Amino acid sequence: MARKTLWVSKIKDGTVIDHITSGHALDVIRILGITGRSKGVVTVAMNVPSKNLGVKDIVKVEGRELNSKEVDKIALLAPHASINIIRDYKVVEKQLVKLPSVIRGIVRCANPSCISNSDEPVEAKFYVDCEEPLRLRCHYCGCVMEKADALKQF
Ligand code: CTP
Ligand code: ZN
Repeated sequence: MARKTLWVSKIKDGTVIDHITSGHALDVIRILGITGRSKGVVTVAMNVPSKNLGVKDIVKVEGRELNSKEVDKIALLAPHASINIIRDYKVVEKQLVKLPSVIRGIVRCANPSCISNSDEPVEAKFYVDCEEPLRLRCHYCGCVMEKADALKQF
Protein backbone atom coordinates (compact mmCIF):
# COMPACT_ATOMS: atom_id res chain seq x y z
CA MET A 1 0.00 0.00 0.00
CA ALA A 2 1.46 3.35 -1.01
CA ARG A 3 1.76 5.95 1.73
CA LYS A 4 -0.48 8.91 1.06
CA THR A 5 -0.22 10.79 4.33
CA LEU A 6 2.19 11.50 7.17
CA TRP A 7 1.31 9.51 10.30
CA VAL A 8 2.01 12.47 12.53
CA SER A 9 3.01 15.98 11.57
CA LYS A 10 6.57 17.28 11.51
CA ILE A 11 7.79 19.19 14.52
CA LYS A 12 9.59 22.54 14.65
CA ASP A 13 12.07 22.08 17.49
CA GLY A 14 12.71 19.08 19.68
CA THR A 15 13.46 15.37 19.41
CA VAL A 16 12.01 12.57 17.32
CA ILE A 17 12.68 9.07 18.62
CA ASP A 18 12.08 6.91 15.57
CA HIS A 19 12.29 3.16 14.86
CA ILE A 20 11.27 2.25 18.41
CA THR A 21 10.64 -1.50 18.76
CA SER A 22 6.86 -1.70 18.54
CA GLY A 23 5.16 -2.00 21.89
CA HIS A 24 7.63 0.29 23.66
CA ALA A 25 6.39 3.82 22.88
CA LEU A 26 4.82 4.20 26.32
CA ASP A 27 7.97 2.90 28.03
CA VAL A 28 9.94 5.59 26.19
CA ILE A 29 7.41 8.18 27.39
CA ARG A 30 7.91 6.95 30.96
CA ILE A 31 11.72 6.99 30.66
CA LEU A 32 11.48 10.62 29.55
CA GLY A 33 9.40 11.44 32.62
CA ILE A 34 6.47 12.65 30.52
CA THR A 35 3.46 12.50 32.79
CA GLY A 36 0.78 14.05 30.64
CA ARG A 37 0.69 17.01 33.00
CA SER A 38 3.81 18.59 31.57
CA LYS A 39 3.76 21.35 28.94
CA GLY A 40 4.88 20.91 25.34
CA VAL A 41 3.51 18.92 22.44
CA VAL A 42 4.17 15.18 22.55
CA THR A 43 3.02 12.89 19.76
CA VAL A 44 3.05 9.12 19.88
CA ALA A 45 2.54 6.77 16.95
CA MET A 46 2.26 3.02 17.44
CA ASN A 47 2.50 0.12 15.01
CA VAL A 48 3.40 2.32 12.07
CA PRO A 49 4.55 0.31 9.02
CA SER A 50 8.32 0.42 8.63
CA LYS A 51 10.51 -0.78 5.80
CA ASN A 52 13.11 -2.43 8.03
CA LEU A 53 11.25 -3.34 11.17
CA GLY A 54 7.84 -4.39 9.88
CA VAL A 55 6.14 -2.09 12.34
CA LYS A 56 7.60 0.52 14.66
CA ASP A 57 6.62 3.13 17.22
CA ILE A 58 7.57 6.83 17.10
CA VAL A 59 7.68 9.44 19.87
CA LYS A 60 8.06 13.16 19.11
CA VAL A 61 8.76 15.59 21.90
CA GLU A 62 8.70 19.31 21.15
CA GLY A 63 11.10 21.71 22.83
CA ARG A 64 13.30 19.10 24.45
CA GLU A 65 16.54 17.19 23.88
CA LEU A 66 17.56 13.97 25.67
CA ASN A 67 20.40 13.33 28.09
CA SER A 68 22.74 10.36 27.76
CA LYS A 69 21.11 8.38 30.56
CA GLU A 70 17.74 8.62 28.82
CA VAL A 71 19.32 7.51 25.54
CA ASP A 72 20.99 4.52 27.27
CA LYS A 73 17.69 3.40 28.77
CA ILE A 74 15.97 3.67 25.41
CA ALA A 75 18.76 1.57 23.87
CA LEU A 76 17.93 -1.28 26.28
CA LEU A 77 14.33 -1.42 25.06
CA ALA A 78 14.75 -0.38 21.47
CA PRO A 79 18.21 -1.20 20.13
CA HIS A 80 17.27 0.02 16.62
CA ALA A 81 15.93 3.41 17.66
CA SER A 82 17.22 6.61 16.12
CA ILE A 83 17.23 9.92 17.95
CA ASN A 84 16.72 12.90 15.63
CA ILE A 85 17.32 16.41 16.91
CA ILE A 86 15.08 18.87 15.06
CA ARG A 87 15.76 22.58 14.82
CA ASP A 88 13.56 24.84 12.73
CA TYR A 89 11.94 21.79 11.08
CA LYS A 90 15.27 20.30 9.95
CA VAL A 91 16.99 17.16 11.22
CA VAL A 92 20.26 18.69 12.47
CA GLU A 93 21.54 15.54 14.17
CA LYS A 94 20.72 11.84 13.86
CA GLN A 95 22.05 9.46 16.48
CA LEU A 96 21.55 5.71 16.31
CA VAL A 97 21.25 4.31 19.80
CA LYS A 98 23.99 1.85 20.65
CA LEU A 99 24.12 -0.57 23.54
CA PRO A 100 27.65 -0.70 24.91
CA SER A 101 28.94 -4.23 25.65
CA VAL A 102 29.23 -3.31 29.33
CA ILE A 103 26.45 -1.40 31.09
CA ARG A 104 27.01 0.51 34.30
CA GLY A 105 24.58 2.26 36.57
CA ILE A 106 21.45 2.19 34.39
CA VAL A 107 19.73 -0.81 35.94
CA ARG A 108 20.15 -2.58 39.25
CA CYS A 109 20.74 -6.32 39.63
CA ALA A 110 17.54 -8.26 40.35
CA ASN A 111 19.30 -10.44 42.92
CA PRO A 112 18.71 -8.82 46.35
CA SER A 113 21.83 -10.44 47.84
CA CYS A 114 24.09 -9.26 45.00
CA ILE A 115 27.00 -7.15 46.28
CA SER A 116 25.83 -4.34 43.98
CA ASN A 117 22.66 -4.15 46.11
CA SER A 118 24.49 -4.05 49.45
CA ASP A 119 24.84 -0.91 51.56
CA GLU A 120 28.35 -0.37 50.26
CA PRO A 121 28.08 1.75 47.14
CA VAL A 122 29.15 -0.63 44.36
CA GLU A 123 27.89 0.46 40.96
CA ALA A 124 25.91 -2.20 39.09
CA LYS A 125 27.74 -3.62 36.09
CA PHE A 126 26.34 -5.91 33.40
CA TYR A 127 27.59 -7.62 30.28
CA VAL A 128 25.25 -7.55 27.29
CA ASP A 129 25.03 -11.22 26.28
CA CYS A 130 22.30 -10.52 23.75
CA GLU A 131 20.72 -7.29 22.47
CA GLU A 132 17.48 -8.74 21.16
CA PRO A 133 15.97 -10.40 23.07
CA LEU A 134 17.81 -8.48 25.75
CA ARG A 135 19.98 -10.55 28.10
CA LEU A 136 22.17 -8.83 30.68
CA ARG A 137 24.55 -10.75 32.95
CA CYS A 138 25.62 -9.27 36.29
CA HIS A 139 29.39 -8.88 36.65
CA TYR A 140 29.17 -9.58 40.38
CA CYS A 141 26.74 -12.47 40.82
CA GLY A 142 26.13 -13.76 37.28
CA CYS A 143 22.38 -13.22 37.62
CA VAL A 144 20.74 -12.84 34.20
CA MET A 145 18.24 -10.04 33.57
CA GLU A 146 15.86 -9.78 30.66
CA LYS A 147 13.98 -6.86 29.18
CA ALA A 148 11.00 -7.29 31.50
CA ASP A 149 13.31 -7.11 34.56
CA ALA A 150 14.84 -3.86 33.30
CA LEU A 151 11.43 -2.42 32.43
CA LYS A 152 10.22 -2.84 36.02
CA GLN A 153 12.89 -0.36 37.08
CA PHE A 154 12.04 2.43 34.62
N1 CTP B 1 10.72 14.59 11.57
C1 CTP B 1 9.78 15.36 12.24
N2 CTP B 1 9.81 16.73 12.12
C2 CTP B 1 10.73 17.33 11.36
C3 CTP B 1 11.69 16.56 10.68
C4 CTP B 1 11.67 15.17 10.80
O1 CTP B 1 8.94 14.84 12.96
N3 CTP B 1 10.69 18.66 11.27
C5 CTP B 1 10.71 13.12 11.74
C6 CTP B 1 10.44 12.35 10.46
O2 CTP B 1 9.04 12.20 10.27
C7 CTP B 1 11.11 11.02 10.76
C8 CTP B 1 12.29 11.41 11.65
O3 CTP B 1 11.98 12.71 12.15
O4 CTP B 1 10.24 10.17 11.52
C9 CTP B 1 13.59 11.45 10.91
O5 CTP B 1 13.48 12.32 9.81
P1 CTP B 1 14.28 12.07 8.46
O6 CTP B 1 15.71 11.85 8.78
O7 CTP B 1 13.94 13.18 7.52
O8 CTP B 1 13.54 10.76 7.95
P2 CTP B 1 14.18 9.44 7.32
O9 CTP B 1 15.17 9.80 6.27
O10 CTP B 1 13.03 8.57 6.95
O11 CTP B 1 14.92 8.84 8.58
P3 CTP B 1 15.64 7.42 8.69
O12 CTP B 1 16.64 7.34 7.59
O13 CTP B 1 16.25 7.49 10.08
O14 CTP B 1 14.53 6.41 8.60
ZN1 ZN C 1 24.22 -9.21 40.63
